[in-house]
Amino acid sequence: MDTKKLQTDIQSLKGSISIPGDKSISHRSVMFGALAEGETYISNFLPGADCLSTISCFRKLGVDIQQEGRNVRVYGKGFKGLQAPAETLDVGNSGTTIRLMMGILAGQPFKTNLVGDASIGKRPMTRVVKPLREMGAEISGRNDGEFTPLSVQGASLKPISYELPVASAQVKSAILLAGLQADGETSVIEPEATRDHTERMIEQFGGTVRRNGKKITVSGNQMLKGTNVHVPGDISSAAFFMAAAAMTPESEVILNNVGLNPTRSGIIEVMKEMGADIHIEDVQSQGEPAGHITIRSSRLKGVTIGGRLIPRLIDEIPIIALLATQAEGKTVIKDAAELKVKETNRIDTVAGELKKLGADIQPTDDGLIIRGQTKLSGSELLSSHGDHRIGMMLAIAALISKGELELSHAEAIDVSYPQFFDHVNQLLN
Ligand code: S3P
Repeated sequence: MDTKKLQTDIQSLKGSISIPGDKSISHRSVMFGALAEGETYISNFLPGADCLSTISCFRKLGVDIQQEGRNVRVYGKGFKGLQAPAETLDVGNSGTTIRLMMGILAGQPFKTNLVGDASIGKRPMTRVVKPLREMGAEISGRNDGEFTPLSVQGASLKPISYELPVASAQVKSAILLAGLQADGETSVIEPEATRDHTERMIEQFGGTVRRNGKKITVSGNQMLKGTNVHVPGDISSAAFFMAAAAMTPESEVILNNVGLNPTRSGIIEVMKEMGADIHIEDVQSQGEPAGHITIRSSRLKGVTIGGRLIPRLIDEIPIIALLATQAEGKTVIKDAAELKVKETNRIDTVAGELKKLGADIQPTDDGLIIRGQTKLSGSELLSSHGDHRIGMMLAIAALISKGELELSHAEAIDVSYPQFFDHVNQLLN
């Protein structure tokens, strides 16, 4: 366990940084690279612990992957070329790895055992197990497959049409990855639109996918071809510095090459509504939209966030909650019960940790209510609870707090942003 002393009570943030590659897109680029025929070259890959777990799982399935920092070469095996692993696959802390892998493994003619860390052991898996069983896979695990350790015996899959009970890109993607191996057309109906990186990547690798309103359809037995993927910066990582710059006086920060996929950019709309000074310059991109974001300090006001917006900013809610402590008036975050089943119960961890700094924040059944503006200060030990986004949110909270602050389990931040503290220091100098 790493306890880290945090920088507190700063003056301003200035400068520009290049945000590391998007985590969701990095995972998918390795997965599709492995399932395609031929070679895939990935640039600006995120070498965070989660995406390295995806690489390690595919190596155990017999895929040759060469990774040096942000550059990755995947020698694809095609859907029929994966090998039965000699060992259990360990997904570490990564929900995206385990849920998408299950969709892939559901169509493979062998049995695979899957484990993860203690946090993964508490995350619900029935949401993927149920549709994959309907398609024909045999899945067993703790509490009838609700929790890891799990094992997946693949089969020849039947296509299904499946209405998602929760808005989840991981579940949608698992079904589409199984659907690509099924005999016929598989459809997923989403309650609200979620991130569409899987759909975009199917097309980038030469496959076909159709969207009709909330219904997404793939046909089975498609052949995917290896390609070049450039991963844009992760807007979910950029969000920490967007918030930090907006909250600290006389700040101006430029975040280069950030992914601006509309299914992920809810944070920009919300911050603008709060009164943030944000300017975007679009850049040329292939597969996924991207741009440079400039953000300056400004006065902020409270907002209400719910409904369709939630899946478009689900991972940014911890940092939005912090931002709301610095906004005038009340902020209500609702329709976000999914936060309870992320790397931690983020309704409880966000409220509990920000209260240590004196924030006026109340957890609710499906979100948070925050009243601002509050001057933050404290001396209690802060904890990431092993959740990368809680750790980064607290490190940004410390920047605007008085007192001496330390963060326990700071190593969790390596899951999605190993350079995080270097970037904080860069913007302080
Ligand atoms: C992700 C989907 C979201 C998100 C997670 C990454 C993905 O999870 O919170 O960080 O890459 O598909 P859910 O599918 O559980 O909503």
